[in-house]
Amino acid sequence: MDRTFTLAHISDFHLSSLNKAKVRDLLNKRMFGYLKWRLRRGGEHSPEVLEALVRDLQISRPDHIVVTGDLTHLGLPIEFREARKILHSLGSPSNITVIPGNHDAYVRTDWNNTFGQWADYMVSDRPFLRGEGGTDSDKIFPSLRIREFVALVGLSTAKPCGLFFAVGSVGELQLRELERILAETGQQGLFRVLLIHHPPLSGTVSWRKRLTDGETLRMILARQGVELVLHGHAHRASRGHVHTLVGEAPTFGVSSASALGRTSKRRARYHIYRLEKNSHGWQMAVSVRCYSPPSESFIADSETHLVLHRPID
Ligand SMILES: [Fe+2]
Repeated sequence: MDRTFTLAHISDFHLSSLNKAKVRDLLNKRMFGYLKWRLRRGGEHSPEVLEALVRDLQISRPDHIVVTGDLTHLGLPIEFREARKILHSLGSPSNITVIPGNHDAYVRTDWNNTFGQWADYMVSDRPFLRGEGGTDSDKIFPSLRIREFVALVGLSTAKPCGLFFAVGSVGELQLRELERILAETGQQGLFRVLLIHHPPLSGTVSWRKRLTDGETLRMILARQGVELVLHGHAHRASRGHVHTLVGEAPTFGVSSASALGRTSKRRARYHIYRLEKNSHGWQMAVSVRCYSPPSESFIADSETHLVLHRPID
């Protein structure tokens, strides 16, 4: 019998409460981000666009929503609380999966006042036993959530980095766990969706914004396989593929969910992946919805159909 699952993909809200930021909160790398925001970014991301996106998702009602990072702009506790309100308006933590982006980890912060606010949207269905030690993030990622025939595997690439840099890395601990999770969920015949903020393919973003251990990640994906890779970070739609032993798996980058965009290309978008499992294998339709300034709402932009290579046992 055919089975379907709809997955919405949103990213990079860059939600900000900078007007409420105190000077002492900005005496670090955040000052750079604050000034950049004042000069450029502040006019780029709009809460009204994000509100329109929430309204659209409340109508389209996908089975699950994934958010691939940079929900905040400077990783301020107040921004984390504002982002939590948005998540809450989208649905319950069991229906929304969040991974962090580099802006969420702009500087080192207290976990409880920041990521702790989103913990129920990030944690695995069943927390793994990861032993003692490590950071709070190490205890959560990689995350694994299974919904119907879909395994959502979340990575964190968010780590504070130097001024003018927006790099990310997965790190040895997560890569080791990821290999095991992909092997197990692959054996279970699940449709594996990897969630990562930084694009896994080199060349998608500039060198100073890259994923530093992308090559090791791609080797693991090649060995263990994956059905779909979703990312953010670039603020524009992109499509590619990673090689696996059973064929190529598609990668999709989504635009910012809140961008007003000087040109239509840079305007806010989100994706809905309609996954289908039937007797021939996996099929996927990707619908792109784009913000329309005249109607102040999201409208249909494009639709693509893909037949995926992995055979069904
Ligand atoms: Fe980013």
